[in-house]
Amino acid sequence: MAAALEDEKRKKRKSKLIIIGAIIAVIVLAAVGTAVGVIVSKNNSNSSSSSSKSTKNGSSTATTSDPNNPSKFTKDPALHQAFYGMAYTPEGALMEFGCSNTLENTIRDIQLLSQLTKRVRLYGADCNQTAQVLEAIVQTKVEMEVFVGIYNMASDDHEAYQRQRDLIKDAIETYGTKHIAGVTVGNEFMLNWVTGHDEKDPNSAIGKEGSAILLADIQDMRKTLDDMSLDKHIPLSNVHAWFANTTAEGAADWVFEFFDGQNVAPAALLPNKPHMYIAETGWPTKSSDAGNAHNGGSPASEEGLQSFLDTFLCQANDKGVGYFFFEMFDEEWKDIKFGGVEGWWGLFNKDRTLKNVKIPTCTAP
Ligand SMILES: *[C@@H]1O[C@H](CO)[C@@H](O)[C@H](O)[C@H]1NC(C)=O
Ligand SMILES: *[C@@H]1O[C@H](CO)[C@@H](O)[C@H](O)[C@H]1NC(C)=O
Ligand SMILES: *[C@@H]1O[C@H](CO)[C@@H](O)[C@H](O)[C@H]1NC(C)=O
Repeated sequence: MAAALEDEKRKKRKSKLIIIGAIIAVIVLAAVGTAVGVIVSKNNSNSSSSSSKSTKNGSSTATTSDPNNPSKFTKDPALHQAFYGMAYTPEGALMEFGCSNTLENTIRDIQLLSQLTKRVRLYGADCNQTAQVLEAIVQTKVEMEVFVGIYNMASDDHEAYQRQRDLIKDAIETYGTKHIAGVTVGNEFMLNWVTGHDEKDPNSAIGKEGSAILLADIQDMRKTLDDMSLDKHIPLSNVHAWFANTTAEGAADWVFEFFDGQNVAPAALLPNKPHMYIAETGWPTKSSDAGNAHNGGSPASEEGLQSFLDTFLCQANDKGVGYFFFEMFDEEWKDIKFGGVEGWWGLFNKDRTLKNVKIPTCTAP
């Protein structure tokens, strides 16, 4: 009962996201070309390359052929770099779930991610995930840029923000910015803030109170980066056709239309004309309850995901739209916490096997 209610609340919350078109600020580091401060010990031992490729459901997982050298790993012929960017959270990288993320698992994920995209977007910085992802990129030697992130809490007097800011600062001090494309501050903060206050309009007095809190954090992050001589700024927006009740076939058109109308056009009227990115877009393949299994347009399904991949990906690449596909892996914690479709947006299953989909043949810029 409580779980069902929670699902419903979450779904409503997300639907509002579409209507609000919540925009979060991103501070992008200028490419200052700071040298990577970590030298990885390379074990160029002659690998006997004995491990076999594990193939399940016609898909495979990345397999390191030499455990001492994560830069040598088998590539999956079913994958190629068709995605502009990918949304990713290392498994277990949440304080409330005990920070069970490991460097080893993150290396395995980066090996897979690098076969699909050159850009990943993280949502938060807790549990040392920023350093682990950067370390994994160094060790795998893949070409990869990271949009690191801070997940702000609505009413904790900036505590979550400050904790994550310091973790990111440490990671930049250790690894430099060679593999960092930007820092995002405030994922879903405004959404959580206004819905937490039973408000719909982000431009209301309540909304302005929330944006003042977030703005203080964004300004603080900018100052932190300025002090390290790094700064630049771009905005992102979440655009989810699922929560607007479109069909899977109509989803790509809906995303482009919403993004152009609600994000790109208004941004062009601003004095600094910020370039907009789609922070998340995707299609769920399953719901943990029947009530959320259908959005009114199409069911959550692998067919729907395939249809969205086929209609969105190459078109977005052609149009030069920057987007982060939502998301790389199914996330069990979201299913536990929110139910419904929340845990089932992955291109890959939780076990790191590709879902029953084909990656479109185009290549992302
Ligand atoms: C295989 O497919 C099934 C259903 O399509 C899915 O539940 C499972 O997680 C997949 N992976 C493996 C390794 O069986
Ligand atoms: C964070 O991760 C990096 C990379 O794996 C590691 O070198 C460092 O010791 C970790 N820090 C903490 C506090 O766990
Ligand atoms: C989507 O459909 C549900 C019912 O299936 C409805 O409650 C909700 O308001 C709809 N959302 C939008 C944005 O039309």
